[in-house]
Amino acid sequence: ATVTYNFTIGWVTANPDGAFERPTIGINGQWPIPRIEANTGDNVIIYATNQLGNQSTSLHFHGLFMNGTTHMDGPAQVSQCGIPPGSSFTYNFTINQPGTYWYHSHTGGQYPDGLRGPLIVHDPDSPFLDQYDEELILTVSDWYHEQMAVMLPAFNSKGNPTGAEPVPQAALFNETQNLTVAVEPGKTYLFRMINIGAFAGQYIWFEGHNMTIVEVDGVYHHPAVAEMIYIAASQRCSFLITTKNETTANYAFVASMDTTLFDTLPADLNYNVTGWLTYNDKESFPEPALVDELDPFDDMTLVPYDNQTIFGEPDKIIELDVIMDNLNDGANYAFFNNITYKAPKVPTLYTALSAGELATDASVYGTYTHAFVLEKGEVVQIIVNNLDTGRHPFHLHGHHFQALYRSEEEAGTFEDANVTSADYPAIPMRRDTLVLYPDGNIVLRFRADNPGIWLFHCHIEWHNHLDVCASQNIATTGNAAGNTVDYTNLKGENKPPGRLPDG
Ligand code: C2O
Repeated sequence: ATVTYNFTIGWVTANPDGAFERPTIGINGQWPIPRIEANTGDNVIIYATNQLGNQSTSLHFHGLFMNGTTHMDGPAQVSQCGIPPGSSFTYNFTINQPGTYWYHSHTGGQYPDGLRGPLIVHDPDSPFLDQYDEELILTVSDWYHEQMAVMLPAFNSKGNPTGAEPVPQAALFNETQNLTVAVEPGKTYLFRMINIGAFAGQYIWFEGHNMTIVEVDGVYHHPAVAEMIYIAASQRCSFLITTKNETTANYAFVASMDTTLFDTLPADLNYNVTGWLTYNDKESFPEPALVDELDPFDDMTLVPYDNQTIFGEPDKIIELDVIMDNLNDGANYAFFNNITYKAPKVPTLYTALSAGELATDASVYGTYTHAFVLEKGEVVQIIVNNLDTGRHPFHLHGHHFQALYRSEEEAGTFEDANVTSADYPAIPMRRDTLVLYPDGNIVLRFRADNPGIWLFHCHIEWHNHLDVCASQNIATTGNAAGNTVDYTNLKGENKPPGRLPDG
């Protein structure tokens, strides 16, 4: 089937935490913005019109492969120009993946202003379909009172030499602080949880109920029972909850922001948001007992439902060191191997398509897009070493990766880890965003089977926004350009010598 949406993107006012009314980016005069819902195999058409007046925009459909439609992926200056105010753009793509996704602005650090919402792909062939009665969508996020256009320049300035990210004012469930979820006794619900926030990872638990995880980031996994989960910015987790057989009480569920990410902890910050499973609205809504004793579930222990085995030895290894450091302008930037991303004036996809034989030369894309050119079909391994003291949820566009290894905090680089192939799981967990711990490392492996231009970036929007990206274009050519590929490993290039990279 074809599913069509008409989206007029414009400013509305909203006050989701009841503390502050602010301009917020809505769609068709509404905020929260509408869900996108489709079935596997559907063609989705979105007529997007930008009525913001003062900002460009674009939409990214987080987690969708966009196979054959890399030009619909959405990141401004990667696969398209931002849609200028007053203009329109038609997104048109076919979805062949089931599961829980979301869509958000991928222009200039804009989505925390409100342009973020669920995208659900229903699957008539889901292996879990007969295990639940109903499904519910649950977004969790942080919330800021200021607009990104105000916060971003201050964040990325010499007035903020440590690169301290602004601390959010609130946490939200389904873009509100007053969420009650009516449930019936003795039923099983599929909760599709999405962290649509800008920054904070969230600890989630339900009082009196366990969660049985069945999907992460659009990949079904064998059911695994969790008492608490950690869900980083942009990750999704679907879990089953079976309700109790009586209706004598209601139960709180909580999202608690990961305050280790915050450089300062404002005294008045309420970093939790509570919702209630409502069995009986005549009963009370008890405050949650704040818990320290629950252990967050380790997603690395999940096993994909299709039992896909580990890809063979990699044809290519990309090793990336994450550094946060200052340039001579005094502001703090994020680096991969001493290169900070600077968006090119011409979207990288256009460069690839117009470069002819040179399309296989990584240097064509510009030093500050930090491009890796991959050959179609090869197995690629990405090792990320975190030389920074924060957590970073790393996201790959256009692919799921197998998560082969994640060190503990403070473990140092992968070289220090003494890990060999024998230590990797035979059937690794797969998803599109994985949390990397402070001063630790991760190893990801994927097959470059989706020609296009794909970003790999930290999904903390402060780290990803236009001028402070630790982003990288992974150009999977081969089919697209019809060329053989000359791989240029950019490791070892020097940090721009005391100046901002020129665009
Ligand atoms: Cu939600 Cu570049 O992605």
